[in-house]
Amino acid sequence: MRRASAVPAPAVPREEPAEASAVVDFYGEHQAGIATEPQAHCTFVALDLREDVDRAGMARLMRILTDDAARLTAGSAALADSEPELAVLPARLTVTFGFGPRVAALVPEKPSPEWLGPLPAFSVDRLDPHYGDGDVLLQVASDDPLTLAHALRMLLKDARSFATVRWHQPGFRRARGSEKPGTTMRNLFGQIDGTVNPVPGTRDFDDLVWIADRSSWAHGGTGFVLRRIGMDLDKWDRLDREGREQSVGRTLDSGAPLTGSREHDEPDFAAKNAVGFPVIAEFAHIRRARLADPSQRIFRRGYNYDEPPFGTGVSHSGLLFASFQADVTHQFVPIQRSLDELDLLNEWLVPVGSAVFVIPPGCAPGGYIGETLLG
Ligand code: HEM
Repeated sequence: MRRASAVPAPAVPREEPAEASAVVDFYGEHQAGIATEPQAHCTFVALDLREDVDRAGMARLMRILTDDAARLTAGSAALADSEPELAVLPARLTVTFGFGPRVAALVPEKPSPEWLGPLPAFSVDRLDPHYGDGDVLLQVASDDPLTLAHALRMLLKDARSFATVRWHQPGFRRARGSEKPGTTMRNLFGQIDGTVNPVPGTRDFDDLVWIADRSSWAHGGTGFVLRRIGMDLDKWDRLDREGREQSVGRTLDSGAPLTGSREHDEPDFAAKNAVGFPVIAEFAHIRRARLADPSQRIFRRGYNYDEPPFGTGVSHSGLLFASFQADVTHQFVPIQRSLDELDLLNEWLVPVGSAVFVIPPGCAPGGYIGETLLG
């Protein structure tokens, strides 16, 4: 029988790669997971509160979940962690919490942003209630899917006496390290998606994203919209490359506007082709998504999804379109309305899920997420 002592000890103690132990600060003025450079994996989960959870119960829940999130994102086990070994590699784990209308209604004396609630109906929508609304949002993201799965399980275990899972939507981007940091993501249509986006760390981003109203419990937080949008890849397969590029107004290889040569070139919406038609068509997604008022912009931080196909299809995929904006009515809704009126991409897209949450501000050590509402 081979004895364990015969196995030589490693000459050099095992060290984890820096990427795996990278930590995103949990505490701060704003919650992490928004201005954070997007991690490779992200799961969005909505919870329904149990009937008997009142303001005090909700505060208790958020104290527990905040403690879990603070520990896990720092690479430490949660209290009573059943698998503490899975907590040691955070790989930029972030946990971001959001509140739906029912949580806000627990404290009626503190007014909530008027946009909190379902979005207006859009003609493109084919909404499945299985992917709609919810009382508490958990956005859990990491570059490592095992870390993410463990963190989410710890949070849900601690939440289960207060709430049940309403929906669960996992999404992904390319693996960390497979592209240079800062590379814009590609969606499953193969498009570079996220080029024109406010840049975290700039005044522009802060103005567009963070709620600035000192009289509100949501001050320092933001508005979150999640749209689950099915992308019909089987139908997209039948469109030639030129048609694909026309539908958005950008090329597929570099993501440059059809009037430019590099990804970040400014599109020239006035340019005409030889026969007098706009180079970037009237129906192009980027023309329709850009409104004249620069305060009507949003911060997009979406993820791809890819689920088992059913029927005769070979794919069941789409985009978890996630956007952050200080005012959903002023920023998100008019853009979505414009796309609803005209956008060639609609030929291949079907929004099937829709949810809106207030993301409360961040907290300091000793505090908890949601204290400005529930405290
Ligand atoms: C731009 C794809 C849904 C808002 C773009 C671009 C692509 C794209 C390829 C060009 C590159 C870029 O700047 O990111 C998609 C796909 C969608 C989708 C595949 C659905 C599956 C939406 C929705 C909204 C939206 C629902 C908002 C309601 C925007 C905005 C831009 C944009 C604001 C930048 C426009 C500009 O150049 O000013 N999208 N998009 N998109 N999209 Fe979408």
